[in-house]
Amino acid sequence: MSRQRKANTKATPKQDPARTFSAASTSPASGRSTTRVTWNTPLFYAIILSLGFSLYQFWQGQSAARAYQEECGVRLEVPSAPGFNEAVISQLGWRPPKLSEERLFEVVDLPGRGKGIVALQDIEMGSLILHESPVLVVPRSLNVDPVSFVAHQISTLSEAEREAFYGLSYVPADAPDVSPAIISTNAVAVGNGGIGVFPTMARLNHGCAGAFNVVYSFREATGEIVVHALRNITKGEELLTTYTDTKRPRHERQAYLSSQYGFECSCAVCSLPPSQSEHSDKQLTKMSTLYGELAAWGAAELSGSQALRLVRAIWALGEQEGYHSERGQLAADAVTVAPSHSDGEAAREWAAEAMRWFAVELGEEHPRVREMQKVFVCPKRSGVWGTRQTERVGGVH
Ligand SMILES: *[C@@H]1O[C@H](CO)[C@@H](O)[C@H](O)[C@H]1NC(C)=O
Repeated sequence: MSRQRKANTKATPKQDPARTFSAASTSPASGRSTTRVTWNTPLFYAIILSLGFSLYQFWQGQSAARAYQEECGVRLEVPSAPGFNEAVISQLGWRPPKLSEERLFEVVDLPGRGKGIVALQDIEMGSLILHESPVLVVPRSLNVDPVSFVAHQISTLSEAEREAFYGLSYVPADAPDVSPAIISTNAVAVGNGGIGVFPTMARLNHGCAGAFNVVYSFREATGEIVVHALRNITKGEELLTTYTDTKRPRHERQAYLSSQYGFECSCAVCSLPPSQSEHSDKQLTKMSTLYGELAAWGAAELSGSQALRLVRAIWALGEQEGYHSERGQLAADAVTVAPSHSDGEAAREWAAEAMRWFAVELGEEHPRVREMQKVFVCPKRSGVWGTRQTERVGGVH
C-alpha cells in the first residue's frame, strides 16, 4: 500500500511546461511558432550536458578506433565496446548446425557397387555426420616388421572390430593374408604420418570434383576421424568423399582410381557427356594450374594483388564446377598474403571467409578456425604483418 502511494506521489509533480520554457508559444502577430529556451531552465543544462557527453563519447570512440588501428592494423568503429569480438564474429552470419541426436546415415548395399553410405534425412551443410576412432593404426616408422605388427594389432581386436575390419573391401591381392590389402585400400592419414583404419568412414565411396558432398579430417586432439557435410544433402542421397585430388582430367582420375582402388569411377562428373566432360576437365586442370602459380607468391615472385587475383580466379572456377572443398585453405592462403602486405581490411575479409569454410569442412571448434579468428580480430598480430611491401591486395570480391 505504501509502495503504491509512493509511486503515485512520484508521478504527481506535474511541472508547468510554461515554466521550463515557453514551449511553442504562438506569437499572434506573426502566426509563427517560436521555441525559446531561457538561461535558468534545467532543460537547457540537460541539453548542454548531454551534448558534452556525446562529444566526449565520440572523442573516446575515435581515440579507441585509432588505438585499435595502431595495434591491429585495421580501422574499426567501437572496438572497445564490451563483447565486441563476439558481436563481430556472430555477424559472420552462418553458424554450423549442431550434431543431430538422430542417426544421419546408414550403410547399405549398392547394387553392383558393394557397400556405401546413404543419408537417412536431409543433412545441412557443415553438419558433423560421423566421428569415429580407428580400429587399427600403423605408425609411420616401425622398428618391427610391419606384417607382424599388423598381425599383432589384429589379434587384440574384439570380435566385432575384427569382423568390421575383414568386412572392408580391398583391391584383390594374391597373398593369403588380405590384411595388408585391406589397409592399403582403406587406411587414411592420421597424426604424425601414421595411417589408420576407420571401418564406418571407410564405407564412404568416392566422387570427383563437384560430385563429393562430405569431407573427412583427422582430429589430433581426440584421435578420431570426423566427417562433415560439404553442402546440403537430401535424404536418400549417397554420401561421397574424395580419395584423391580430382582437379585433373577424367582419364587421369580414372586411371589412378582404377589402379589404386580397383574401380571404374562413374560419379556424376565422370558420367558427364563428352563435351561437358571436356569443359569440366579444362576447368579443373585450370584450377590446378592456378594453384601452382599461386605458390610463386611464397618465393616472392608475385605481388600480393597478383596472388589474390589468382585466389579469386580459383574460387570462381570452383563455383562453376561446384568444387567447394579446400576453400578454407584457399582463403587461409589469402590470410597469409594480406597481412604480409599490411592490408588489414583484406586480411579481415579473408579471415572471415576462411573461418566460415574451415568450420564447414573441419568443424567450428577446429584449431584452424581459432587461428583465423585471431587474424580476424587483430590482423597485425598474425605473425607475418608487414613482412612484404605495403600494398592494397584486395578483399574477397
Ligand atoms: C542449406 O539448407 C539450409 C536449411 O534448409 C538453408 O537455410 C540454406 O540456404 C541451404 N544452403 C544452400 C547453399 O543451399
